[in-house]
Amino acid sequence: MKIAVITSGGDAQGMNSFIEAFVKNCNHEVVYYKSGIKGIYERDIFPISKKDVDGISSLGGSVIKTSRFKEDFLKADVQKRCIENLKEDKIDCLIILGGDGSKKASQIFSKHIKTLFVPASIDNDIDGLESIGFDSALNRIVECIDNVKTTARSHNRDFVIEVMGNGSEFIAKSCDLAGLPDITILSEKDIEGALKKVALKESNIIVVPEGATDIDILCDKLSKNHNREVRKLILGHMQRGGAPSARDRILASKYAKECIEKIEIMLK
Ligand code: F6P
Repeated sequence: MKIAVITSGGDAQGMNSFIEAFVKNCNHEVVYYKSGIKGIYERDIFPISKKDVDGISSLGGSVIKTSRFKEDFLKADVQKRCIENLKEDKIDCLIILGGDGSKKASQIFSKHIKTLFVPASIDNDIDGLESIGFDSALNRIVECIDNVKTTARSHNRDFVIEVMGNGSEFIAKSCDLAGLPDITILSEKDIEGALKKVALKESNIIVVPEGATDIDILCDKLSKNHNREVRKLILGHMQRGGAPSARDRILASKYAKECIEKIEIMLK
């Protein structure tokens, strides 16, 4: 059997942990397409050996590279060429690591080729399954917010902190559950209540998921209407960077084991 692995969409800590665990434990030929679905389209295919993956588990990002290819993949001719390339490359099974968008792509591939989807995105946007990368990102956010809090409190300032999520509020809600912010704003309708609440404390950490509201306007409202000293902080790609947490490495190994078991069943 010839198995191809790709990482697709935004990178996530722990993608490499999956690749190391999978390649080391798989007894079939493994190849990868560089930069995700774009690599399938461009036929950028490479072999990957147990020796190649030794030690990559602790590295953030994706050693086999990833890219955004959603818009292109919507086109029928692009999909057709991807399927043809996989067939010409004699791929028996395709493994796709990614988030919600990659899952949709995997459903298209699965109509033509055996496909396994592995949730890997800091957004944790796959229902009922934990995504590789989410725990690492959350740990990174915890560290950042804990750090910001000390300076915020010293200066009696409010900090509006934007976290990632791409429409999924999971990161922001988890920050809230972890007790990091004083206030969490998930949508415009939370703003009025938040504005009232800020006055109760000399300093507030306010967490907002990206896209929920315009944080510049929010900062302006806070400082002008309420005479507060406000700072804005966009955590951005910092959240996706760095080494995977122990939990993500374990999760990645579990998903790798599951894929290997499913491949053995396919063979029967
Ligand atoms: O991978 C998910 C994510 O980090 C989202 O939370 C965010 O909206 C997006 O990717 C950022 O994408 P890019 O890295 O392409 O700027």
